[in-house]
Amino acid sequence: MTIEILTVLPQLLESPFEHSIMKRAQDRGLLTIKIHQLRKWAINKHGQVDDYQYGGGAGMVIMCEPLANAIDELQQDGKFDEIIFVTPDGKRFEQKDANSLSLKNRILIICGHYKGIDQRIRELYVTQEISIGDYVLSGGELAAAVIIDAVGRLIPGVLNDETSALTDSFQDNLLAPPVYSRPAKFRDLDVPAILLTGDPKKVDQWRIEQAIKRTKERRPDILAKD
Ligand code: 6GU
Repeated sequence: MTIEILTVLPQLLESPFEHSIMKRAQDRGLLTIKIHQLRKWAINKHGQVDDYQYGGGAGMVIMCEPLANAIDELQQDGKFDEIIFVTPDGKRFEQKDANSLSLKNRILIICGHYKGIDQRIRELYVTQEISIGDYVLSGGELAAAVIIDAVGRLIPGVLNDETSALTDSFQDNLLAPPVYSRPAKFRDLDVPAILLTGDPKKVDQWRIEQAIKRTKERRPDILAKD
């Protein structure tokens, strides 16, 4: 899978994919990340990609031409399966969206800044508008990093233990159960005895019960879903 990103702040995306699971995904050739500086398609030699908004008001808007020219050029060697604009007014990103994006071959993520991007690019090019939650970030880069991490780890072969993505929180509308490691007793707190029995059936049953209990307490909204 190839994920490309258009941004005026490529520096913000230097580190997030260079460690741990995202690094492994790239090292194994399962994920390719290409970061493009939007200013490469600036309208003048000053590197301008944004302008004042029609109708007045604070904040600059990323213009049509740099974005359209960038996307057209990047699509000369093949179309994107999805062109995603990350924006707080987009549809809220959930695990099921990560699951379906992980099945795509090539996607582009456009990071906005300032007041966003010209509406016509959204109408002409963008196929999905995604928000990562109900709060405002300074720009789309951190949201893009979140989406790429959530998607990248789901690409087949990226995780070592293939079952581990299946037992993630949200994958079956349940939060994950509590986990414990050594020592068996820490400051008066014991590891639940069932986990020490070595009986995998009982352990599984306990984990399911704990997952349901935790979900009821913390996220009753997801229990009822789809
Ligand atoms: Cl995708 N972008 C920005 N700037 N803020 C956000 C967001 C995206 N999702 C939540 N807040």
